[in-house]
Amino acid sequence: MENKSPIGIIGAMEVEVNSIISRLSGEQSESIAGLVFHSGTLEGVPVVVAQCGPGKVNAAVCTQIMILKYSPRLIINTGVAGGVGVKIGDLVAAESCVQHDFDTRALGDKLGTLFIRRGDSETENILELPCDRTAAKVLLEEAKAIYGGAHMGVVATGDEFVADKEKNRWLGEQFGAKAVEMEGGSIAQACYMNGVPCAVLRAISDSANDDSPVDFPAFVRETAEKSAELLIRAVQKL
Ligand code: ADE
Repeated sequence: MENKSPIGIIGAMEVEVNSIISRLSGEQSESIAGLVFHSGTLEGVPVVVAQCGPGKVNAAVCTQIMILKYSPRLIINTGVAGGVGVKIGDLVAAESCVQHDFDTRALGDKLGTLFIRRGDSETENILELPCDRTAAKVLLEEAKAIYGGAHMGVVATGDEFVADKEKNRWLGEQFGAKAVEMEGGSIAQACYMNGVPCAVLRAISDSANDDSPVDFPAFVRETAEKSAELLIRAVQKL
């Protein structure tokens, strides 16, 4: 029997979700906590789409509401990212996400270790938040079929727009990251806590270095739409 539960799609900025929302058939919307959830079908597939706003807290709140209200079978985060060793215009599908700014090293923990409650008396320590392999492979293969640069790798998330080549190098060294952005690792954490599969797809808008303040505004629209377009093309296979 066909699975009627929707695929959830989250992007931080208007430009990351608008082309998807405009393609919905039978669109209905509902506002919760100031976030607008647009449901409908995309290429015949039931979806719910929301713009969460930038950063980890916005993204986590949006993800949790989406899960409780719409019971999505998969949540996909689409948008742009700073490249770590990959070029502007390339696509990165996350194999996992880390939160590069979660830092309790002063207490003896490894950088990026997260603490997830598992009931009243148990905490799980986790560094790499898993992404759904099947969904990531579908997105990667679709990207490879259309574009030159497509990669699978670690996406590093933090509440910071990275525009510094030393920090960029550090992200690669510490986490093996291929892209840096501000929501994926938080969406992946909320999904992980709820047992919902997730995928993170990012097109590279800048190189997370000194040129980023110029490159990001120059390339954000084109690259955000590239990621959204790829998702639309792949949605029937997800
Ligand atoms: N999103 C796009 N570019 C980024 C960067 N350089 N840092 C963080 N998030 C981003």
